[in-house]
Parts: sequence; structure tokens; C-alpha cells
Amino acid sequence: MMKFNRHRRLRTSAGMRELVRETFLRPSDFIYPIFFVEGENVRKEVPSMPGVYHISVDLVKEEVQELVDLGIKSIIVFGVPDHKDHVGSEAYHDHGIVQRATLEIKKHFPELVVIADTCLCQYTDHGHCGIVEDGEILNDESLQLLAKTAVSQARAGADIIAPSNMMDGFVIAIREALDEAGFVHVPVMSYAVKYASAFYGPFRDAAHSTPQFGDRKTYQMDPANRLEALREAQSDVEEGADFLIVKPSLSYLDIMRDVKNEFTLPVVAYNVSGEYAMVKAAAQNGWISEKELVLEMLTSMKRAGAELIITYHAKDAAKWLSE
Ligand code: PBG
Repeated sequence: MMKFNRHRRLRTSAGMRELVRETFLRPSDFIYPIFFVEGENVRKEVPSMPGVYHISVDLVKEEVQELVDLGIKSIIVFGVPDHKDHVGSEAYHDHGIVQRATLEIKKHFPELVVIADTCLCQYTDHGHCGIVEDGEILNDESLQLLAKTAVSQARAGADIIAPSNMMDGFVIAIREALDEAGFVHVPVMSYAVKYASAFYGPFRDAAHSTPQFGDRKTYQMDPANRLEALREAQSDVEEGADFLIVKPSLSYLDIMRDVKNEFTLPVVAYNVSGEYAMVKAAAQNGWISEKELVLEMLTSMKRAGAELIITYHAKDAAKWLSE
């Protein structure tokens, strides 16, 4: 008889498969994104993201209670302000939408870990993530405003600051500003490796943050590059980041693994809006089994090295895991 290995021995029953399973998902792996808008009693579905809502700050209690009941421990807060201007003033205003939402959430749910997305693109009339002059996105001039935004978010009670703007030096600028303002204990979850991706389309609808001219390719990364991801992550580690986000997820699992192997900080996968929208569209057409597909995708991110996953599927996935 020819000699070969019998791998199927370890797959003979559900119990056996469970014994040898290497990767597990838990509700506490998920970070749920919430989009806050101005107004009262607003709960409006984002058309390209079925199941995701624009909600006003007064409705936050119900929304967050559901998450807490499902065992989700953390949310990331995005603001969609009514007022935009050239320098994104609403981003660093103490009464800005993220600041108000954060205050309200922490008042009712002190245990929930609230992460504030720190960027200017939802707040600027040109839709870029930094200051613009003569059609150029200025780096160093933007850092000061990002740092100011982070401090005001921390003052509102944000537990973690998550800068997503991809300016150079944003981690150290924010770290120093937080320290100076007395927030030495507030970690920075850096969008360290963020590609210029078509997968952000639905988010830009949801956040009203599409650039009004040009694109983000002078600050977000080229999807063709791998070593550059390690250089980006290295800088953020040196500048004092506490978590490293890789974004998007599905087309970048190789990068997630590289970052995991190279650094010891917790790695966070951002399962972005376009990835979510594709799944939802296929599910609505009955073309895929949503539950199995989503759990498979989320598992693949953990297997690729992510400790945490920012995902719009968080609520559904947490429900499915408890079934
Ligand atoms: C803001 C920001 C974006 C996302 C998160 N923060 C959009 C962008 O960079 O254009 C994308 C999230 C998603 O697609 O789910 N800079």
C-alpha cells in the first residue's frame, strides 16, 4: 500500500473538528462603527450599506444598549456634521458631533470602549483629510489640527484615538498633544497601513466625505505595495502607536500577516464599507449564505493575524456566534 498522510482523520466529526480548530471568533473581537448626524430622532439607513444607520446623538442609548447586550465591547465613532469649512473646524470643536456623541455614550455606558476616528475629511468642504492650499494637501500644517481634534475627543471621554488621515508624523503629533493635555493613558490606534482603495466608496456616501477634487493617492498607499506597508507601520511604532490598523481587509490579508509577523503591537483589521456592501448585495439577491460567508471572512482576518476587527457585520456576527 502506498504511504500517505490521513488528514481526514481530524475532520471526522464536529467534535473532532472543534478539538483541532486553530482560530476562534468572539463578540469581543469586534469593534462596531457608528455614524452620528445632527438633529433629533434621526435613524436613517445608508442606502449602500443596508443595516447601517445614520443616527442622531439622542438615540444613542438604544443603539449602544443592543451592542452591549450582544457582548460587543467597543465602538468606533464617526461624525457627519452639517457644517463643513476649509479647515474642518467642526472636527476639533468641543461641541462637535463626535465629542457630543462620545460624552453621551460614556455617560450611559462607562464600561464601553469608545474609539474616536480622528480625521478631517468629513469636516472639510474639499473632502480631503488635511489642509488644502493651491490644490495641494499640506502635511505639517495638518498635523496641528489633527492633534487638536484628538485632544478634544479625549476631553470628551474617548478611550482610544484612531487617526485615519495618513499624514506623515500624525502619530507623534497626536501622542505629544495628548501627553501635554494630560491624556498620557489614552492609546493611539493608528490607521498605520491604509491603502487608497475603491473599497471605501459606500463609506464616503455615508460620511459625505468624497474628495471634491483629485483623489487620496498622495497620502493613502498604493495597493501594489507591500514593503511600503512595513515602512508605514515601522514609523508608527517608533512614533508611539499602541495598535496598528490594516485597511481594507480582504484584499490585504497578506499585509496583515506581514505586519503581525514584524511587530508585537495588536493588529486591527478594518473590514471596510465596500467589503460589507458587496456581501449585503449578494445576500439580498440570495446568491450567497450571508451567515456562513461573513463568519468565514471574519475568521480569515483573525487567521491572518488580526486581534481585533472593525466591522459593520459586528451585530449580526455576534448574534450568529451565540446561536
Ligand atoms: C476617513 C475614513 C475613511 C474610512 C474610515 N475613515 C474613508 C477614506 O479614507 O476615504 C473608510 C471606512 C470604510 O470604508 O468603511 N479618512
